[in-house]
Amino acid sequence: MKKGIDGKTGIMGIIGGNISKTLSPYLHNSLIKHYLLNDCYLPFQITLKQLSLAVEGIRALNIRGVNVTVPYKEKSMEFMDKVDDAAMRIGAINTIVNNHELLYGYNTDYTGFKRSLLEGTETKIQGKNAVVLGAGGAARAILYALCQEGIKEILIFNRTLDKAEIIKREYHSYFPESLIQIFSLKDKCLQDKIAGTDFLINTTPLGSYPDVDLNPLPEDIVINQNLIAYDLIYYPTKTSFLRQAEKVGAIIKNGAEMLVYQAVESFYLWTGIRPEKEIVQKLIHDLANENHF
Ligand code: ATR
Repeated sequence: MKKGIDGKTGIMGIIGGNISKTLSPYLHNSLIKHYLLNDCYLPFQITLKQLSLAVEGIRALNIRGVNVTVPYKEKSMEFMDKVDDAAMRIGAINTIVNNHELLYGYNTDYTGFKRSLLEGTETKIQGKNAVVLGAGGAARAILYALCQEGIKEILIFNRTLDKAEIIKREYHSYFPESLIQIFSLKDKCLQDKIAGTDFLINTTPLGSYPDVDLNPLPEDIVINQNLIAYDLIYYPTKTSFLRQAEKVGAIIKNGAEMLVYQAVESFYLWTGIRPEKEIVQKLIHDLANENHF
């Protein structure tokens, strides 16, 4: 913000069910301050009953745009004037842009994930294999990114097979070149599949605060040291799953970079500014060092 709030300050924010711990205000207000914008990013905690009114309020109050978080990423799509193709296929939006009272829905979780994996690294997705744990909304976004980048094969392990089956069917029609197979999280073949994979990605909440001792993998699983272990969880910064992978020498990555990159992509949609590498790296560093807590 340039000189504090005045009559022209633009409002952005986040709507969600329980956002008392959200880091989005920290990330966006840091970007607003860095670029000396006359804007402000606020948290709006709402109930499901309030969702349609809250979205209408974006128009009525001339809010520039909002992020949408759990549990409204799917439901809020209904209230958009237009939804971006990728977001439609993923089945969720996390960003709403108010363009002269027309509301556009986007998904920057999948682009954020992709950038977190590829930017500034030698990592390639094309022709590789991934084991993905979980088949919820977050999994749908990262699977979309992996398929779009030409991954060869994805093995989804989930507690509920039906949900994984739906993803397999839908994504096969969008990305016929990528082979998707589904298994129960309890399937004994998990060990074999992990041994031959390039990416092992946890999209379940197992291991997140406060149940930090939980791990989506059975205790006796051996992780291959040549893979990249990615946990979408960012707090704690090193989950039990990531510690297990680190111990064998695998490359590990938590959800902090994805969180920063999805924020940066939303910020671009609202402001037209593409944050430079330095400020992006600073935000990633802040999260890694828990400077915001
Ligand atoms: P998100 O939008 O963050 O992905 P979600 O849609 O609720 O959240 O999905 C969470 C994922 O974690 C799901 O795949 C869920 O498995 P189910 O499809 O069987 O519900 C998985 N998950 C959550 N808690 C779990 C647990 N205790 N054990 C195993 N899987 C779990």
